[in-house]
Amino acid sequence: MTLQGKHVIVTAGPTHEPIDPVRVIANRSSGRQGFAIAAAAAEAGAHVTLIAGPVSLPSPPGATRVNVETAEEMATAVHGALPADVAVLVAAVADWRVEPSVSKLKRGSGPPALHFLPTRDILAELAESPSRPRLLIGFAAETENVAANASAKRETKKADWIVANDVSGDVMGGTRNRVQLVTAAKVEDWPEMSKEDVARRLIGRIAEELE
Ligand code: CTP
Repeated sequence: MTLQGKHVIVTAGPTHEPIDPVRVIANRSSGRQGFAIAAAAAEAGAHVTLIAGPVSLPSPPGATRVNVETAEEMATAVHGALPADVAVLVAAVADWRVEPSVSKLKRGSGPPALHFLPTRDILAELAESPSRPRLLIGFAAETENVAANASAKRETKKADWIVANDVSGDVMGGTRNRVQLVTAAKVEDWPEMSKEDVARRLIGRIAEELE
């Protein structure tokens, strides 16, 4: 039980940003990698708060699940779950939202001009928070220059580690993953493995780091 007594926050899945009462802006995240990390952390004895966007996955045994829909709700839930020893932010949070229409947009009115507004950056906010978790880990979904972009993201967002994955294939929605772990010291290439194995290996590394 390597994470006994530790509180681990995990975010997972997509967010849905409403356009009107029936339409949303979504993305292809399945939530599988984040749910596997929450499950592995609970297996390792941690107290786990899993903050999940809209996905239809069963809750990992032992994790406390908070369901959210939007980036704003996810940010509020993450801050509400503090303090934590570790936060692993796996969710594919929308970068933009729109001011939703209270009534359904009608086709007859013609295509709407959507005015995008930025969402809150949960990872960057946590990094600056007075209750910053001791180990703050982000994920970086990249389609090109994966390690370089992930290293830059680690520095600008002030995360301790970034798990970089190349999402140019079918990773989003698939059951396997190939990641690179970017720390201050180095970039580690992990071989392709199941999302459960990525989760267990990451939890092992987290436990070592907290020792
Ligand atoms: N993230 C977050 N809040 C946001 C956007 C992203 O907490 N509003 C987190 C993700 O959960 C992930 C990390 O930031 O851990 C990187 O997400 P990613 O989408 O790769 O980065 P972006 O900041 O959106 O950068 P870009 O889209 O330019 O690659």
